[in-house]
Amino acid sequence: MKNSVRIMALALLMSVVCWFAIGLVDADTQINIVNQCSQTISACQTDQSGQITSYALGSGANQLIDVGTSWPGGLIWGYPGGSADPTDCNTAKPQADLAEFTIGANNQDSYDLSNVNAYNLGLLINPTTIAPPGNRSGLECGTPSCTINNITSFCTPPNTLTPTPGDGCFNVNGTGTTPTSGTEAFDTACPEAISYSNDTTGKVYACPTGSNYEVVFCPENTILQMNKKNIAAEMRPVYPIKPNAMNA
Ligand SMILES: *[C@@H]1O[C@H](CO)[C@@H](O)[C@H](O)[C@H]1NC(C)=O
Ligand SMILES: *[C@@H]1O[C@H](CO)[C@@H](O)[C@H](O)[C@H]1NC(C)=O
Ligand SMILES: *[C@@H]1O[C@H](CO)[C@@H](O)[C@H](O)[C@H]1NC(C)=O
Ligand SMILES: *[C@@H]1O[C@H](CO)[C@@H](O)[C@H](O)[C@H]1NC(C)=O
Repeated sequence: MKNSVRIMALALLMSVVCWFAIGLVDADTQINIVNQCSQTISACQTDQSGQITSYALGSGANQLIDVGTSWPGGLIWGYPGGSADPTDCNTAKPQADLAEFTIGANNQDSYDLSNVNAYNLGLLINPTTIAPPGNRSGLECGTPSCTINNITSFCTPPNTLTPTPGDGCFNVNGTGTTPTSGTEAFDTACPEAISYSNDTTGKVYACPTGSNYEVVFCPENTILQMNKKNIAAEMRPVYPIKPNAMNA
């Protein structure tokens, strides 16, 4: 009895010390992946290692990931359904729009949205805490987003619909270095997202390293956003909610 009390006290002390240490020392970048889609999705994550991690996220769910202090070539994308299978992630990647990150290079994070491969789910990147001396202004710590409401009606030649698991629209000339009618359709629908390989001017955002971010799937679903509780809501300070959505 006495022993178990002592062990419990020790465990409590250890966890307090642990939380204290995390609060003081941990400068890792946190990315909160939020699913505001009305359906379950699988969120996929990879980086230069090529290793893919996937999370099944029900509507309104979120997953906080810790990407450390350096995350070159970081990518987040998703596909409909909750299989959370890295093989499906890999198949969906060329059928999906991507949230792209380079965390911690030269004391800077850079990030963008890319429709170079395709588009399948609405995406937004938002810095939730901005490390000094960052300011939220234009490409500095800004919040790019991209939503295409009806993929079927959007996806006209030369672009083509993709099969499952991505269920998106291929950007057939996206990997090219010059715009075409196909890439221009993406650029018109989502001017804040990269529409072909060389379309990076004015579309790559930067924020001081040490900032934290959220990646939101289906950011257009503001009603879900207003209903969201828990950690995701707490981490969402200066979120650009449309005025009419506030009244919804
Ligand atoms: C950020 O914005 C604030 C308020 O506008 C300003 O006082 C400050 O100088 C800015 N900091 C930088 C690094 O631009
Ligand atoms: C999307 O567009 C297709 C093709 O134009 C149309 O048949 C369908 O009804 C639209 N879906 C919605 C939800 O509006
Ligand atoms: C766009 O893609 C189509 C289909 O692959 C190809 O035939 C065409 O040459 C491409 N256009 C450019 C400018 O790359
Ligand atoms: C596209 O970008 C690459 C890499 O930055 C560059 O070498 C190339 O000249 C660019 N091509 C065009 C047509 O702008």
